[in-house]
Amino acid sequence: MNGLLYILIAVGSLFCNVAVAIDKSCPFNPVDIVFVLDGSGSEGAANFNKQLMFVENITEQFEIGEDHTRVSLVTFGTGSHNEFYLNQYYNKTQLLSQIAKAHYPNGETNTHYAINFVRTNTLTAMHGAERNVTKLVIVLTDGRSLEPSALQYSVKELKKNPLVTTIAVGIGGSVDPQELLMIAKDANHTFQVSSFDALNTIQGEVTDTACNACNNIFSDVCFVLDSSGSEGAINFHKQLEFVNIVVNEFSFEDGAQTRVCLVTFANNAHTELHLRNSINKETIMSNVLKVPWSNGETMTNKGLDNARNELHRSIGSKVVIVLTDGRSTEPDLTQRSSEHLHRTGIETFVVGIGNNVDRNELRVIASDRDHVFNVGTFDQLPQIHQDIVDKICATAKRITTSTSTTTTTTTLPPTTTKAACGLKPADIVFVLDSSDSEGADNFKTEVDFVYDFAAQFSIGANNVQFSVVTFSSDIRNDFFFNKHHHRHTVLQAIRNIQYMGQGTNTSGALNFVRTQSLLPLHGARTNSSKFVIVITDGRSDNQNQTKLEANLLHKQAQVISVGIGPAVDRAELANIASNHHVVTVNSFALLKTIKRQLTDLACESG
Ligand SMILES: *[C@@H]1O[C@H](CO)[C@@H](O)[C@H](O)[C@H]1NC(C)=O
Ligand SMILES: *[C@@H]1O[C@H](CO)[C@@H](O)[C@H](O)[C@H]1NC(C)=O
Ligand SMILES: *[C@@H]1O[C@H](CO)[C@@H](O)[C@H](O)[C@H]1NC(C)=O
Ligand SMILES: *[C@@H]1O[C@H](CO)[C@@H](O)[C@H](O)[C@H]1NC(C)=O
Ligand SMILES: *[C@@H]1O[C@H](CO)[C@@H](O)[C@H](O)[C@H]1NC(C)=O
Ligand SMILES: *[C@@H]1O[C@H](CO)[C@@H](O)[C@H](O)[C@H]1NC(C)=O
Ligand SMILES: *[C@@H]1O[C@H](CO)[C@@H](O)[C@H](O)[C@H]1NC(C)=O
Repeated sequence: MNGLLYILIAVGSLFCNVAVAIDKSCPFNPVDIVFVLDGSGSEGAANFNKQLMFVENITEQFEIGEDHTRVSLVTFGTGSHNEFYLNQYYNKTQLLSQIAKAHYPNGETNTHYAINFVRTNTLTAMHGAERNVTKLVIVLTDGRSLEPSALQYSVKELKKNPLVTTIAVGIGGSVDPQELLMIAKDANHTFQVSSFDALNTIQGEVTDTACNACNNIFSDVCFVLDSSGSEGAINFHKQLEFVNIVVNEFSFEDGAQTRVCLVTFANNAHTELHLRNSINKETIMSNVLKVPWSNGETMTNKGLDNARNELHRSIGSKVVIVLTDGRSTEPDLTQRSSEHLHRTGIETFVVGIGNNVDRNELRVIASDRDHVFNVGTFDQLPQIHQDIVDKICATAKRITTSTSTTTTTTTLPPTTTKAACGLKPADIVFVLDSSDSEGADNFKTEVDFVYDFAAQFSIGANNVQFSVVTFSSDIRNDFFFNKHHHRHTVLQAIRNIQYMGQGTNTSGALNFVRTQSLLPLHGARTNSSKFVIVITDGRSDNQNQTKLEANLLHKQAQVISVGIGPAVDRAELANIASNHHVVTVNSFALLKTIKRQLTDLACESG
């Protein structure tokens, strides 16, 4: 069991970019969750209440709402009992208090009644299950079902709904592991704990499993690179670097959720990297850099054909990204090949580099107008990678959503996410002013901003890590880099940051970041870019000391200062920042407008 849990933790949960995805990331992605709780006589009311606490704790991790996650609770003993349906409580506070109030049914263990009830009552449009979102049915039990064969039948019926993912949690020594396995989607969706008191130990894993379930995105991305004579080896290499910057934004966990292929074209096309060889990110990236420049004509059509052949058998989202600096030698054939790609359901992006491209031709190659990008020079390629990645993420989501009711494939849990900005992992510390001048409401806006900012990234040991320090007169460490290991727990921790009030001890905060937050002991990595983002609305209590501390900090991290409102001292913001990385906004409400700017700043200075 421990080994399995370990794998689950390692697989983690990485999610698509919130800024562009149709829905927010899991657990901020909408899902329907149905908890099915054993309330049989073997439990006793005290243990039943521990289950309720477990349900509350899991529910707590999700964004609740009509358009977000909906929750229903069913209990069973001799019969089954609906506590509330999916469409009854869209307010988290109310929902949590309803869970706490659920009554203990007592009686036999007629698990099959509960499963039937879920299928025929809970998961109906009338009761709030009308959305095309994953339906997680989480069954908790401490015993064996009274009628195993009836249970087997009802589970089979329930699983016919392709949107349903079942998770089974067995508590104590009386459960039947085979029965848990039969209820659950597979072994990875089965959990067992020795006692009710041990429930809290698996809460994180259950949430992660739940999240993976709503994230079944396959993305196969094929790069098609112009390798003709007009490019030259140096510029060709810049294209390869661009490929790596994009590749680095995706996750390649066990099971290779994202796969990559690379085709070059000149007189002929060569498939340099095959999808089937997408082992892991490091291997892909090092192989990309070895791809040679060919020199020759611009037979774009041949490159497109190779990509189509490569993606022929892909399931899920299929993406081609074409880079070219000129006109194709055979425009008619290029048009024909492009149309063929589009008909095959391949989303085709095209990046035109320099002035020699034919804009009409770019438009013909691309799936639509939004899939065309232009840059003036090869050096500007990195600037557009974010937009492309955003669009691929959005595409992958769309395709998954639209096919999810028809596919019944045995899916790995693939994800398409932004892993980092640029090529390096980043450690980012937020330093938040929580002084009197802010007020609790403005501070909340500040925290919301940090949340939205952090939600853009995949968070983890190889990607982006966050830490937050809040200050007023005192300095408070909200969390170090190594406190939370999953995206949703980081976001949850940000949500929980409380207002302080009182003075503006900026120097103390900067000192704390330098002497504590950025230590390897607290999770800072040697292989990362370090950023400190200081957000303040006023001037520090001790400007000389602040300047002194800022200068010391500059030696360890890029510091970006964000000033909000009219009371900021621009000279001081400049002192705090390294390399003039100062961003100001007129009011707290406008903070959200600088998210992109700040993201770019953090990414570029790496
Ligand atoms: C949810 O309910 C609580 C208590 O009933 C209330 O204070 C809060 O404003 C509600 N939240 C929303 C978003 O409606
Ligand atoms: C769910 O999918 C069905 C069939 O594909 C479609 O008719 C319906 O509009 C979708 N509903 C939502 C809420 O997306
Ligand atoms: C469970 O997860 C592991 C690790 O991701 C994977 O290798 C294995 O195939 C999964 N098992 C099933 C039955 O899906
Ligand atoms: C629920 O969360 C609380 C607070 O984090 C924790 O003390 C408790 O052990 C958790 N209980 C369960 C059953 O998960
Ligand atoms: C600022 O914080 C530092 C570090 O915690 C502390 O030593 C110092 O006394 C504080 N200054 C004020 C004015 O509170
Ligand atoms: C960066 O270092 C951490 C440990 O400090 C390690 O776990 C991680 O794999 C490294 N990442 C890369 C991309 O080298
Ligand atoms: C701060 O520094 C300035 C210039 O170095 C000096 O004139 C001033 O007295 C200092 N202020 C304090 C409070 O130490």
